[in-house]
Amino acid sequence: MKKSVLSILLAGLTLNVQASEPHPANLEARSIVKEFGGQLQPALQAAMKAGGPVAAIDVCQTKAPAIAKDLSAKHAWNVNRVSLKPRGATATPDAWETATLKWFDEQIAAGVDPKTLEKFEIVKADGAETIRYMKPVMTAGLCLTCHGSEQQIPAPVKAKLAEVYPNDTAIGYQEGNVRGAFSFQKAAQ
Ligand code: HEC
Repeated sequence: MKKSVLSILLAGLTLNVQASEPHPANLEARSIVKEFGGQLQPALQAAMKAGGPVAAIDVCQTKAPAIAKDLSAKHAWNVNRVSLKPRGATATPDAWETATLKWFDEQIAAGVDPKTLEKFEIVKADGAETIRYMKPVMTAGLCLTCHGSEQQIPAPVKAKLAEVYPNDTAIGYQEGNVRGAFSFQKAAQ
């Protein structure tokens, strides 16, 4: 009798632990975020320090897509960055990404800690299942040179941005705004 009560309790406990444990693909996506940020952030900082913001634009333009491509190949996920005000060639969000970016904005406005904010969903469409993941990218002080207000962006940076990104919309941000998001997807097995 005692034993069976204990085993029922243990079975309940196991179920509970399983329910609160994130999906393996969710954990995978979190680690790809770390890898992406861990490569891009130091590259940007080093480029800013070495050549200033105008030179660093080139790094953002070539390095960020290159890292995304490497990580896509390495992890068999489609790895990208998107924004409601896109700059890069692949940064325009689809419907699911647009809804998620808007939800991130609402969550941040409601005081949610961006560190804990993410979206993981298995999306069904046309009989296929896609695993989708997004994690917000927050605007820091360092970002304002290239993503801040008209006044905050130095004239040479403005000129270079206009030359490389004639349709740029990625300005007017303040520290603490959601600048965009990492967005990853892969087919569900
Ligand atoms: C030296 C200028 C510069 C600085 C500083 C900078 N960025 Fe960018 N950012 C860019 C450029 C250029 C792109 C477009 C890259 C491309 O072509 O894919 C970009 C693209 C992005 C994107 C992808 C979405 C989009 O709109 O293309 C995100 C997200 C982003 N930046 C976040 C940040 C954050 C967060 C910071 C601060 C930590 C930052 N950036 C600092 C120049 C900069």
